Amino acid sequence: MAEAAVRALASPIDAIADQELDDLRARGTYRSMRILEGLQAARMRVDGRDVLLFASSNYLDLASHPEVIEASCRAARELGCASGGSRLISGNLAVHEALEHELAEFLGMPACLAFNTGYMANVGVIPALTGDGDLVISDALSHASIIDGCRLSRADVRVFPHGDVDALESLLRSEAPKRRRMLLAIDGVYSMDGDVAPLREMIPLARRWGAMVLLDDAHGIGSLGRRGLGAAEIEGVETEVDIWMGTLGKALGSFGAFVAGSQRLRELLINTARSFIFSCALAPPQVEAARAALRLIGSEPWRRERLQANAARLRAQLSERGIETAPSTTQIVPVVVGENARTMAICERLLEAGFYAQGIRHPSVPEGTARLRLTPMASHQTDEIDALAAAVADEVQRSA
Ligand SMILES: Cc1ncc(COP(=O)(O)O)c(C=O)c1O
Repeated sequence: MAEAAVRALASPIDAIADQELDDLRARGTYRSMRILEGLQAARMRVDGRDVLLFASSNYLDLASHPEVIEASCRAARELGCASGGSRLISGNLAVHEALEHELAEFLGMPACLAFNTGYMANVGVIPALTGDGDLVISDALSHASIIDGCRLSRADVRVFPHGDVDALESLLRSEAPKRRRMLLAIDGVYSMDGDVAPLREMIPLARRWGAMVLLDDAHGIGSLGRRGLGAAEIEGVETEVDIWMGTLGKALGSFGAFVAGSQRLRELLINTARSFIFSCALAPPQVEAARAALRLIGSEPWRRERLQANAARLRAQLSERGIETAPSTTQIVPVVVGENARTMAICERLLEAGFYAQGIRHPSVPEGTARLRLTPMASHQTDEIDALAAAVADEVQRSA
């Protein structure tokens, strides 16, 4: 009886869901989740098969590092598994403040504030700094969280073609006289193409025209640069960033995110960033795992070097087999296939061959540019990289 009543209530919703889902199926963008089992590392069980993982953002393989695990377990034993509230109520723990202090020091910034995810950081910080009549300027390939942050801010938004410094300059020049505030919000490493933003040119331009700069380096922090300072370090502008957003759930092998900037910016975010204020704080095991990972970012630079060497080898091996990976220069290595169905069929065959590589379709990438997004890790062996390159080349060519 109870079950029948529930079904009757759900049916109008199911009709709507079916309509929307049929639409997605017709466009070839219906998505479903794979099930992963085992220790978070370079080899995992995916949908019941033991495979090499080339789809993870655990780039440095720190999520299963013994020191990270031990720090997290100790925090659970000594501090518990939850923060118990939002930071402004009862959840502001000493370990949050310690993590923020250490992240600020690592980045050479005056202050830092932790957020629960990178998505929440971007939708918090952009509306905290801009509103009606202000302008946010962003790249055509900016991450969805920057786009959503812009929408929530109610600021005007202007988008320049991907990586186009001249277009950015003409926007800044024409908008500067009309605007109270301008914010340039850009990714450091583009998450679907693996290229680095031309920050060496963009940041000075923003400064010249009086725009603040928010650099989202979710994929660069920890994985790029001699010290792991990411895209800004590669571009030689690590001392020029106004606002730095980074994540703890990718190279840092934990969960969460942060915004680093001035002490005043931190105060402003604590007081106005809704995604910070109205959400339970990060749990102690996550915070302590991130602190341990941050120490390893400093003490084990070989992980970063291995990661980038693996990525360079993968690009070279693919190129030798006639497969393009441009414009990637980082550990995110795209192989653009084009059609949705063909891309997903290649992924399926790679999985059968023992490689988990994710297929990416619209709206994560522009229509018609569906791709394999290959992400090697520091702990992959060179023969594993070579085997992946051979399998990808085979499958791409066979499906042509
Ligand atoms: C460029 C960029 N910014 C922000 C995010 C969101 O970070 P999080 O996964 O911590 O929400 C991502 C996630 O993939 C990203 O690629």
